[in-house]
Amino acid sequence: MRAPFELEVVTSLRDVRLLVEPTIVIRGGTAALICSRDMQGAPLYSVKWYRGNHEFYRFTPMEEPDTRVFGLPGIYVDMNRSNGSQVLLRRMDLGLAGNFSCEVTAESPSFATQIATRIIDVIALPTSIPILKSDKDRYQPGEVLRANCTSPPARPSANVTIYVNEEPMRATETSLRPSDSGLFTTKVNVEIKITPGLFPGGRLRVACYASMYNVYNKSAKLDFLTPETDPRPERITLNGGAPRTILNWFLLFLVCFLPMVMADDYSFEEDISNYYYNNYDEETPGLVSSLVGG
Ligand SMILES: *[C@@H]1O[C@H](CO)[C@@H](O)[C@H](O)[C@H]1NC(C)=O
Ligand SMILES: *[C@@H]1O[C@H](CO)[C@@H](O)[C@H](O)[C@H]1NC(C)=O
Ligand SMILES: *[C@@H]1O[C@H](CO)[C@@H](O)[C@H](O)[C@H]1NC(C)=O
Ligand SMILES: *[C@@H]1O[C@H](CO)[C@@H](O)[C@H](O)[C@H]1NC(C)=O
Ligand SMILES: *[C@@H]1O[C@H](CO)[C@@H](O)[C@H](O)[C@H]1NC(C)=O
Repeated sequence: MRAPFELEVVTSLRDVRLLVEPTIVIRGGTAALICSRDMQGAPLYSVKWYRGNHEFYRFTPMEEPDTRVFGLPGIYVDMNRSNGSQVLLRRMDLGLAGNFSCEVTAESPSFATQIATRIIDVIALPTSIPILKSDKDRYQPGEVLRANCTSPPARPSANVTIYVNEEPMRATETSLRPSDSGLFTTKVNVEIKITPGLFPGGRLRVACYASMYNVYNKSAKLDFLTPETDPRPERITLNGGAPRTILNWFLLFLVCFLPMVMADDYSFEEDISNYYYNNYDEETPGLVSSLVGG
């Protein structure tokens, strides 16, 4: 039970929170920083915004003008979209990644102050899809398929995984090569011992996926056909989302002209659910489960 005098205590300002949207910004992009608080009826004295220890924006409702921007290299505050509750940062570059804070101060008598901090990451995506190479165009059982996959410079380095028939392969070697302006090229090598079981439905697929968090996911693929089927070699490149009928026609084509080489920029989900299952699995129902044993 409260003593009577406690009811008169001014308990101003609590729950200062900083919400950042998005927390991972693609270089050149925009982030909104939203500072919420519970003033409990106390008047607002100021909201100060920091990148690290450096203040870059201040909102003081009692002053004229009520907003101030402090020049900080690389910080572009969109004044039209910033006020006492939120700040919009534009054209964010890699160097801006780090801690951002909002500090709220209540009016007298208390001048209570609370600060909330969030990390914003600024990333650079690879400029093109990964490049997947194999040492040969076709393989006989007993041979070793050597493949490497290179994802162009990015920051941080992209995650690169090579799959054989949708199974992730352990890399024999992974390298990160630094390039200009702090970006990294990722390269992964794999070696696969070729067995007849690796050609379920007559096809061995090697795929390389390069991803960055959940904002980037691109792939390249190489298809190898069963050694027994042996017409003249042919190379084909397929791009983009061809309509279903063209894909079916293409599958017919694929059976006739081997081996086929394919590179595309489907997202992982699109590729697996639409292309792979729709066009392969329904025609060869045992395919997916047999991949595991391959
Ligand atoms: C902000 O608004 C002013 C006046 O409406 C306009 O002239 C200016 O271009 C706007 N700036 C930005 C960055 O949108
Ligand atoms: C601040 O600006 C945002 C976006 O422009 C707007 O939604 C919000 O209502 C504004 N808040 C205040 C306190 O003016
Ligand atoms: C962000 O703040 C935390 C906690 O103060 C600190 O450990 C970290 O080093 C800061 N990160 C950067 C990038 O400054
Ligand atoms: C990647 O594989 C291709 C084909 O086997 C080969 O020519 C190339 O030298 C390899 N690249 C590297 C850097 O290992
Ligand atoms: C790479 O994968 C690891 C493990 O899943 C994950 O923690 C990391 O965030 C990923 N990096 C990128 C850039 O996506």
